[in-house]
Amino acid sequence: MRAYRLNGAAAPLRPVEEADPTPGPGQVLVDLKAATLNYRDMIVREGRYGGEQRADLVPLSDGAGIISAVGEGVSPDRLGERVAIGFMPGWSEGPFSAGKQAGALGGGFVDGVLQEKIVVPASGTARLPEDWSFVEGAAYPCAGVTAWNCLFGGRGVWLGETVLIQGTGGVSTFALQFAHAVGARVIVTSSSDAKLAQAKALGAAEGINYRDTPEWGLRAAEIAGGEGVDHVVEVGGSGTLNQALQAVRPGGEVALVGVLTGFGGEVNTGAILMKAINVRGVYVGSVAELAAALRSGIRPVIDRVFPFDRADAAFEHLRSGAHRGKVAIQIAE
Ligand SMILES: NC(=O)c1ccc[n+]([C@@H]2O[C@H](COP(=O)([O-])OP(=O)(O)OC[C@H]3O[C@@H](n4cnc5c(N)ncnc54)[C@H](OP(=O)(O)O)[C@@H]3O)[C@@H](O)[C@H]2O)c1
Repeated sequence: MRAYRLNGAAAPLRPVEEADPTPGPGQVLVDLKAATLNYRDMIVREGRYGGEQRADLVPLSDGAGIISAVGEGVSPDRLGERVAIGFMPGWSEGPFSAGKQAGALGGGFVDGVLQEKIVVPASGTARLPEDWSFVEGAAYPCAGVTAWNCLFGGRGVWLGETVLIQGTGGVSTFALQFAHAVGARVIVTSSSDAKLAQAKALGAAEGINYRDTPEWGLRAAEIAGGEGVDHVVEVGGSGTLNQALQAVRPGGEVALVGVLTGFGGEVNTGAILMKAINVRGVYVGSVAELAAALRSGIRPVIDRVFPFDRADAAFEHLRSGAHRGKVAIQIAE
């Protein structure tokens, strides 16, 4: 089978030919058809993700394909099933743990999905909706599940509440779609007026250009009215968190997912306690959450699909920041 391996931060990915893997007990072999990229993949490639990492990793966490072989103990009925693979295939359900995190695909010492075949636990996959493409399925494992967890894994967003969503990348576009679907009023921030117009077409009620309005947190609170927004999907990290804390109402929730501005920094802890804000760290989610998110039937926004032999160009496109929604790679037809 064909695969790509990392080859240093600046060098192109290294194409390799490797033996097909064989599923062991409780495992399935998935013929991968599509993968999508996340911001994480870029920083893994650059060695900036944190923690130890194998230098020649197969990158990317998010893939979808067809089960083509099953190991001992797995029902042969699963052969031919069209599936998306969990970001952490060993986290089928239940609470998060460090052990489950260590199994995340395409990071640390675990090969990812930029290859034609992969072996994963049978319980690490979720069935795709019938009429979906593999690219659509591959959009969900990280970005879709993270957005789902941000909105519904904590206090839960309710009809009529106001949700503030930062940016228009993969996680944020899913969050906009899910929040709109449950009847929340969504405020989106972006560096681009054109992207804000596209967000409105997807259901955002209001947009704020965070370049033109550096105090966008206050502006979001004003738009929300009352005491502020109910819920924030925080993808920026330390550089945006203090604005998010301005935006959110007392007792509201900030679902903290992102590190776009870095992993650490100064945080207004006073605001967190004085407003009794629930700042909840989110690390993607389980395969059960993947299955639930797919059941929403909400089709992801796919920005662009690159062929397998142009995998490097897909990384460059993500790096450019020109995308809205998901950047994908078609591994096979
Ligand atoms: N914790 C988790 O489980 C988890 C899971 C997935 C992702 N993440 C993290 O979440 C973040 C987003 O990931 P992604 O894959 O969705 O990234 P992405 O597709 O590359 O999207 C990034 C988008 O964020 C927006 N952005 C950049 N800087 C910003 C800023 N200072 N303020 C507000 N928005 C900003 C930009 O939107 P505009 O172009 O509209 O300005 C950009 O398109 C990353 O930090 C990633 O590591 C965490």
